[in-house]
Amino acid sequence: MLEDLASVMFDEEALKEKCRGLGQQIAKDYEGKDLLVVGILKGSVMFFADLTRNIGIPLHIDFMVASSYGNGTETSGKVNIKKDLSVDIKGRHVLLVEDIIDSGITMSQLKVELAKREPASLKLCALLSKPSRRKVDVDIDYCGYEVPDEFLVGYGLDYAENYRNLPVIGVLKREIYS
Ligand code: IMP
Ligand code: MG
Repeated sequence: MLEDLASVMFDEEALKEKCRGLGQQIAKDYEGKDLLVVGILKGSVMFFADLTRNIGIPLHIDFMVASSYGNGTETSGKVNIKKDLSVDIKGRHVLLVEDIIDSGITMSQLKVELAKREPASLKLCALLSKPSRRKVDVDIDYCGYEVPDEFLVGYGLDYAENYRNLPVIGVLKREIYS
């Protein structure tokens, strides 16, 4: 079934190893700090679950749903927060967890909004980044993989809400969406 719709880019073993490596690095960097890890839904769901289980220090978790009002070229618009955090982040060390940074517009807007709430620090961990698609600069403090400009699905990533439950990340075949 999978072979018919996507070609595998990162298999389960690779993703597991990646989460282990990132988790260890994050644990080291935040040792002794009040860490709040924020998953950006829905795309980060699988990555978030695997990553946080590899961060071997005490932490809290929370979630947000956000999208950009921008039309792809608009960079000054406000981010549309569809589900906000359930806690105040003032004075806390916040680590955002996102599936993929594409144009960078959503995340750059979200970071501006969250910075206004005066966290002690605000960093970003993204599993995937497509640097060739960037329209605005976004600092990715922890980046899993840089990927080419292909449409990826699985491990939380969707095409029209489908394929999020694939255990691997694959390149969606063009005949599926063209
Ligand atoms: P941007 O960085 O503001 O352009 O938005 C990034 C968002 O677009 C991600 O959080 C994903 O929801 C979505 N996205 C970008 N590229 C892909 C892809 O290859 N597959 C699935 N979703 C993608
Ligand atoms: Mg997303």
